[in-house]
Amino acid sequence: MVRVITIDGPSGSGKGTITQQVAEATGWRILDSGAIYRVLGLMADRAGISVDHVGKLSKMAEMMPLSFDGERVLLDGEDVTDAIRTETAGYAASKVAAVPQVRTALLQWQRNYAQAPGLVADGRDMGTVVFPAAEVKIFLTASAEERARRRYKQLKDKGLSVNLARLTTEIQERDERDRNRSVAPLAASETALELDSTEMTIDEVVEKVMEKVRFTFSDLNV
Ligand code: DC
Repeated sequence: MVRVITIDGPSGSGKGTITQQVAEATGWRILDSGAIYRVLGLMADRAGISVDHVGKLSKMAEMMPLSFDGERVLLDGEDVTDAIRTETAGYAASKVAAVPQVRTALLQWQRNYAQAPGLVADGRDMGTVVFPAAEVKIFLTASAEERARRRYKQLKDKGLSVNLARLTTEIQERDERDRNRSVAPLAASETALELDSTEMTIDEVVEKVMEKVRFTFSDLNV
């Protein structure tokens, strides 16, 4: 059986960084499910397909020529790693992610991605919908202000011009949409360990997650 660790939470909660470090510690593969929705958002944007075109969107989702090469995200061989990280792509992702048929179309793709010995899956519904039987489930949060500050710093470091107030509003709006959509809304699984990272360092969060991993998979030497 493939062992799965799910790390869910809103954007900017630190999921990506924590997922990477946990994957390094365990040696397991990462599923960045947000990247899948971002790629689909990009494809829809490029093709001029709106979220109302449910049929076309789910077809696209079913046949998505997506692959991961280490940290690079490839769409039909094209490196779209940077293109999917923009705020516009994030917005497009959140729109397509709210379409139930799209989520269904992507379910199997995500489950197939889990291969032995284990997977660290990062997203919004990894513990609730995609891998409900995962043995370790984490739900990571942080205040909207703190998450906006982190995102601001990330974008600034990349040399992009950003506005903190606008970023905070965008994060709050996206949270709203992700939490209130009818299918697979952003929510903690009942069995998830909830961690609020607002006042925690990355190392502290990783240590908390690893404590749970060691306890659950006691044969792992990590
Ligand atoms: O984690 P992220 O910011 O890359 O995700 C981009 C968008 O995709 C986000 O608005 C929510 C959506 N998403 C989702 O609905 N389900 C997931 N498992 C992952 C992301």
